[in-house]
Amino acid sequence: MRTAHPQRYPFVMRVLHWLLAALLAMQILLGFAAEHWTSRAVSDVLFSCHFKLGVLILALMLLRLGLRLALPLPGGDDGEPAWRHGIRSLAHGLLYLLVLVLPISGHVIWVWMGADRSLFGGIEMPALFVPPETDETGRAVAWYVHVYGAWTLLALVVLHAAAATWRHWREKDGFIRRRMGFGNVPPQCGA
Ligand code: HEM
Ligand code: HEM
Repeated sequence: MRTAHPQRYPFVMRVLHWLLAALLAMQILLGFAAEHWTSRAVSDVLFSCHFKLGVLILALMLLRLGLRLALPLPGGDDGEPAWRHGIRSLAHGLLYLLVLVLPISGHVIWVWMGADRSLFGGIEMPALFVPPETDETGRAVAWYVHVYGAWTLLALVVLHAAAATWRHWREKDGFIRRRMGFGNVPPQCGA
């Protein structure tokens, strides 16, 4: 039975997938380095880059989400059990959720810190809320969400990449190239 879905993600989705993968790897490293760097001056510069890159990631992620809803996407492979396709979709949904929640929680901490929200060319990220003077609950919640969310994202990305690589090599069906690559589309069943 042939599926009505395309084999490959649309070009713009593939570009965004790999671009965001690279930017997110940098962002996690930046967050970790900024948090643990002993010199305050260096840490401030790293945090400023972390903030700007986070806003860029949020913008690209919203664009990606919009395109995802609008463009035709690959479904499950022919003969693939529904549960396996279901798990993949769940993992992708969680990745989207985390990559959207992280910049939002980061923004809440950032505004609470009263940190500089300038982006570039005189443009400033709006605060969108005024933190209460005495109650720090919101800041604490945002901190937990941000820090634990970042490590959950890292773990999920490692699992996601490992699962894709495992399938690519184990089933010899060119899975990564077929779905997210840029050359010719390899046939669905290799070996
Ligand atoms: C920060 C790193 C990454 C993130 C956040 C991420 C996220 C995602 C998401 C959300 C999708 C679903 C497609 C969509 O709706 O846009 C996806 C698909 C995919 N990703 Fe990643 N990815 C990352 C890194 C990687 C790496 C390193 C690999 C390869 C080793 C990889 C291989 C794939 C493949 C093959 C698909 C298509 C899966 C399918 O069709 O079911 N990804 N990725
Ligand atoms: C997808 C985007 C983001 C990712 C993956 C990310 C990741 C991280 C990571 C890994 C840390 C270090 C956690 C630790 O040391 O255990 C961190 C800390 C932090 N991030 Fe982000 N971040 C993102 C976006 C943002 C944005 C947009 C802002 C600001 C507007 C921000 C503000 C912060 C702050 C203030 C901290 C320090 C938290 C503290 O300990 O007080 N982050 N982030």
